[in-house]
Amino acid sequence: MRRPIIAGNWKMYKDVNEAVELANSIKRAAFDMDNVDIVICPPFTDLSDIGEMLVESAIGLGAQNCFWEKEGAFTGEVSATMLKSVGCQYVIIGHSERRGYFGETDGTVNRKLRAAVDNDLIPIMCVGETLEEREADKTPDVVRTQVTQGLKGFDEDHLGQMVIAYEPVWAIGTGRTATPEQAQEVHVMIRDLIRELYSGSFAESKRILYGGSVKPENAGELMKQEDIDGGLIGGASLKADSFVDIIKTTSRVYEGR
Ligand code: 13P
Repeated sequence: MRRPIIAGNWKMYKDVNEAVELANSIKRAAFDMDNVDIVICPPFTDLSDIGEMLVESAIGLGAQNCFWEKEGAFTGEVSATMLKSVGCQYVIIGHSERRGYFGETDGTVNRKLRAAVDNDLIPIMCVGETLEEREADKTPDVVRTQVTQGLKGFDEDHLGQMVIAYEPVWAIGTGRTATPEQAQEVHVMIRDLIRELYSGSFAESKRILYGGSVKPENAGELMKQEDIDGGLIGGASLKADSFVDIIKTTSRVYEGR
């Protein structure tokens, strides 16, 4: 059975004081959750402090982006080695907000993925269609292209613990969640594609998270789906109560499996 991950993407919220407070509350409330991997992804400016706080903790630390070069004259960018040096184990790559607002493409996602795995960071690669694409029945094509191009040139050994997050753009921050069936359908598509590109055992081992308006109220039904292996949570990860509630719900669902 795949072990679920609940990851919080804090986006551009929380200064360092607020971030440390939130991370502390999560740490206190979720200390006994031993069947769920918990990850928090605060803004860059918070990583170092939280990295220190989480030493010896089971909670994983992730960044929301990284650049593909190791160092150099790239004003405003942060490298995978730098993330590693402040205690990150994960990095989100190709979030739809990065693709939509900052011009990231499947090509840049591919390069960032390379930097992440070369530096032993676990990438959480995000894919997902816009509303327009869904309404035009293009979801399978869009997701297929994003996954195939993102993973181009990688073999199984390189990808290690790589995680994929399916986040339909129309469900992000809108309160409009994909139904559990809609999400499961795309997760199966992604797993089938991984099987086609790699192998059956590799596809079975890969964790595919769902993201887009996951809340305590809908987490249970989503996590019950066979191919949903956790969640990438935005808004509801900004409060310890709701984030921990989602973690506990996921833990209960998996205890019952
Ligand atoms: P919301 O949970 O706020 O919809 O955000 C989802 C997301 O983008 C996580 O990366």
